Formats: sequence, structure tokens, C-alpha cells
Amino acid sequence: MNKPASIFMVTTVATVVFITVYYFIKVLFSKSTTKSEGGQSWTRIGLVLAMAGNAVGFGNFLRFPVQAVQNGGGTFIIPYLVCFLLMGIPLLLVEWSIGRYGGQFGNHSTPFMLNSLSRGRMWKYIGVFGIFSNIGIASYYCFIESWTLAYVFHSAIGSFKGLGQGEVEAVFNNYISLSKATLIPYEAIVFYVICLLINVYILSHGIKGIEKVAKIGMPMLIVFGLILAIRSVTLKAGHQGALYNGTEGLNFLWSPDYSSIWNPKVWLAAAGQIFFTLSVGMGSIQCYSSFINKRDDIALNSMSAGWMNEFVEVVVGAAVIIPLSVGYFGIDKVKELVGLGGLSLGFKVIPFLFNQWGPFLSVLAGVMWFMLLFFAGITSSLAMGKPCVSFMEDEFKWGSKKASWVFGLVILILGMPTVLFFNYGVFDEYDYWTGTVSLFVFAMFEVILFSWVFGMKNGWKEITRGADINISVVFKFILLYITPVILIGVFMAALITPYQNDWGSAFASLFNGNGWPLDNGSIIRQVNNAELRQQIAVAIAPEVQSALKTKLYLIVGAKILLLTLFTGIAVLVYIAGKKRERLGREQ
Ligand code: ALA
Repeated sequence: MNKPASIFMVTTVATVVFITVYYFIKVLFSKSTTKSEGGQSWTRIGLVLAMAGNAVGFGNFLRFPVQAVQNGGGTFIIPYLVCFLLMGIPLLLVEWSIGRYGGQFGNHSTPFMLNSLSRGRMWKYIGVFGIFSNIGIASYYCFIESWTLAYVFHSAIGSFKGLGQGEVEAVFNNYISLSKATLIPYEAIVFYVICLLINVYILSHGIKGIEKVAKIGMPMLIVFGLILAIRSVTLKAGHQGALYNGTEGLNFLWSPDYSSIWNPKVWLAAAGQIFFTLSVGMGSIQCYSSFINKRDDIALNSMSAGWMNEFVEVVVGAAVIIPLSVGYFGIDKVKELVGLGGLSLGFKVIPFLFNQWGPFLSVLAGVMWFMLLFFAGITSSLAMGKPCVSFMEDEFKWGSKKASWVFGLVILILGMPTVLFFNYGVFDEYDYWTGTVSLFVFAMFEVILFSWVFGMKNGWKEITRGADINISVVFKFILLYITPVILIGVFMAALITPYQNDWGSAFASLFNGNGWPLDNGSIIRQVNNAELRQQIAVAIAPEVQSALKTKLYLIVGAKILLLTLFTGIAVLVYIAGKKRERLGREQ
């Protein structure tokens, strides 16, 4: 590795490892009660592992490497780390606090948690985002989760043995397009349903079920991840078909590059990754935290879970896919593969690379890799289910079994379009609105509510009550000024992203009276599918035009579904609010 890259990597990795281990040991040796005042409760270690499991997911192993490659490797890491410190950590503190505070009044999902922070009644409708995101994300997230299950099965029975890269890719394409060439008819649907059933089963067992999965899944995931990471970074050029050393990929990832550090696109990507990977802005952290006793610590717990996520992302996640694929293909080809779709590497390529390790190791590595992904996925999807289940339990007095089954059914219905029309962009549409935009919008309002409406004085009391560590008062300032400003800035930048992300030319155009040239990637343009419409307008071949039109109809259909979902949740929140009024329940 080159010297600047090794210095940057070693410093960052050592810092992350040190802080993670330090906090985790502190958790292990601190008082272990985390009893909530009524009903379900966590053990302390179970809580930290479940929260870490909530955060650790496909974001760490699949999305992070892709974002890093797409945004220039070393260029990406710096904004990423800054966003973690100035946005990620403050939001963790806010969300854990809001959850524990809301839990005192028997609120386990965001709509009425937000109401309990202020007298304004409209906040509960902002809280709708905290259920909407979870359902929307779970619909497509469980689909990826089901692939991992299918791939554990296929790796174990040796389906990939001896296959070349094209053939491994064909396995994925057949699977995803519900082709008859799969081993089990309609395999993608079968595994999707199995995966949902597993989620429903665990959710119906409440906190205890979630805790058990986290206690088994998290340690297993870390061990498997470390084994694969060590194997990947120690890859030797010329050995087992590798063209380059595994460190070549690390070089790319960790070479600090300041040239595009002022590019807003890289900052947007880094902020988006921090949101997705920490599961902030989603409503799931608040839900888990609402089962904590109001006198119990959240400061140490939140830092421990948050840093554990960073450890799994920056240390483990970064050391598997990139070093491995760069070792076999070289960086240019990896960039090309990533351009073909973010998930390509993990499923279309990795089984082929494992094949180079011989018949025994390839099966073992395949099972480890996909099992690791499965545990990463399920600990996150359970966290998406719990707020929805809790909402129905709290407001409509449903039992956890009924609420979990209904959640599973809703996910099945909403997720089916992503399964059936994966190749038409429905999946990406869900991801964009529920997994990106919704998180930003919610977090923005949430921080303003916490720091400015509830007030920093009250907020700080919440953050520090029962704290087992000191949280620097600097965070008071950050929470009041920096985090809200960054969030509003990032949201505005995404809303009106100028043509080709060229802000200089956009301002020049504005001042010259020619208006603001919007990019097709801006939120405003995404609303009416501008890019697709332009593609249809210029398509000449009738079959291309017709395929694009089908895609447009499906994407518009997906938007209508998501809008219906949001409205449906808002109506339920309205009904629940009326019910509370009748019962004279204020918070
Ligand atoms: N935080 C979860 C992930 O990274 C959603 O996949």
C-alpha cells in the first residue's frame, strides 16, 4: 500500500477499533438492568446488540463499498467520517432520547412520541414518516434478505461449483426474472415468503425474540466477517487466480484525495450512507429505545451500538468486497461492475471469486458470506417491523401475533411489485423515496423539534439522565446549530440539485436571469420521472419506446402505492389521535 493510504487507514481503523472495544467493555461492566416500566424489556447487552443489529445491515457490506467506489474511494471516506461525527452521533443521541422519553408515556412508535415532546398536535403527522419508512424499506429490504437465504442454500448444496463468471451471473438473472431455469419453481417468490414468515415469527415473540436473534446473529456475523476480511486483504497476486494483491483495493479505498472534497455530490452520498447505515431518520431506534426504563443509560448504549456499526462498516465491510474484487479484476473493471448496479458485486460476482479457492473453501466461504448477510439483514428488518407492530399494539390494542402477521401481509403486498418488476426500477423507486428522501425529511423535523421546540435544556437533561459516560457539551452546540443546518442544507441540495451537479454554472444562470437548471436527479425532477420521460421522447425503436413506457407506468404505479401507504398510515394516526382524545389521554 502507498504510504498516505496506510497512514490514513491505520489511524482510522485503530481509532474505530479502540472506541468500539472501549465502549463495549464499558457496557459489559456497567449495571445490567434495562427494565422498562411495563410489559416488554431488554437485557442491557441484548439492547446494545439489537441496536447494533438494527444498524448493521446490507448498508455495511453491500452499499458502503459501492458508494465508496462510485465516489472515488479516499474522496468518499473523509466526508463520510465528518457526517458520522456531526450528523450520525447527534442523531443517535436524539433518537435514543426521544424513544426513552416517549416510552414513559407508553408510546413505542414515532407519531405520538413526537407529540409528547411538544404541545403542537401536528407533530404526530411528521411521525408518520417513522412508520412509512419502515414499511417501505422493509418491502424491498426483505427481498434482498430473501436472496441471501436462497444463496446460503445454493452455496451449501454446491450450486455454484465450477461455474464461470457468466454462469454465476446467469444464476442471479434467472432467479430475479423468475425464470423456469431455477432449481425451485418461482424460487424468488418462495424464498421471499419464507423470509417474511421468519420475520413474522420472530416479531410475534416481541423484544425477547428480537434479542435472541441479535445475540446469536451479531457475534456470528462479526466472526464470519473478520475471517473473510482477513482472507481478502491477504490475497496474493498470482495465487488462486488473483491478478493483484488484496491490498490494492485498500489502496484505492484509503488513498486520501482532496480534489473532489468540495463536490456536493460526494457529500450527499456520504450523508445518505450515514443515514442508511445507522438507521437514523427511520423510527426504529426510537422504538427499541422506548423499552428502556427512564432512569437507565442511553449515552453509553447509543455510542456503543453506533460505533459497533462503524466497526462493522469501516473495518470489516470495507475489507471484504473491495479487496477481493479488485484483487481479481483490477479497479477499472470493479468500477464498471459497480456501475451495472449496486448489488451486482455481492451476488453476481462473489460466488465466482470464491470458486477460485477450491471446492471446499468455496462452499465454506459462500455459506459464511451469505449467512453473514442474512443475519445483517434480519436484525435490521426486525427493527423495521417492531415500530409498526408496536403502533398497532399501543393504539388499537392488538396482540403482538396479530400485529406481526398483518405487518407481514402488508410487506408481502407492497413488496410483491419489487419482486415481480425488479428489472423495471420499482425496487429503486422504493429505495429512493422511503430509504433516502423520507429519512432526511423526518430527521430534519425531528432535530428541530428536539433542539428548538422541546428545547436544548430539556433535551440535554434527557440525553444525560442516567448516563454511564460523559457526553461532551460540544454536542449541545452541534445539536442546536450544526446538525439542523447540515440537514436542511443537504435536503435543499437534494431538492434542487442543479444540472450535472454544477452549482457554479447554476448560480451564474440564475443571476443572468436564465433560471435554475435542475438535474434529473433532483427530488423535484424525480417526482415526475423527468429522466424516463426524456428517454421515451428520444427513443426511436418502437420496442424500446414501449419497454420504457411500461417502465414508466410501473414506476408511477409504485409512487401511487407509496402515497397510498403514507396516507393510510396518516389516517390511522388520525383515528388513534381521536381515540386518545376520547380517553382523555394527553401524551
Ligand atoms: N441500517 C440498515 C443497513 O445498513 C438498514 O442496512
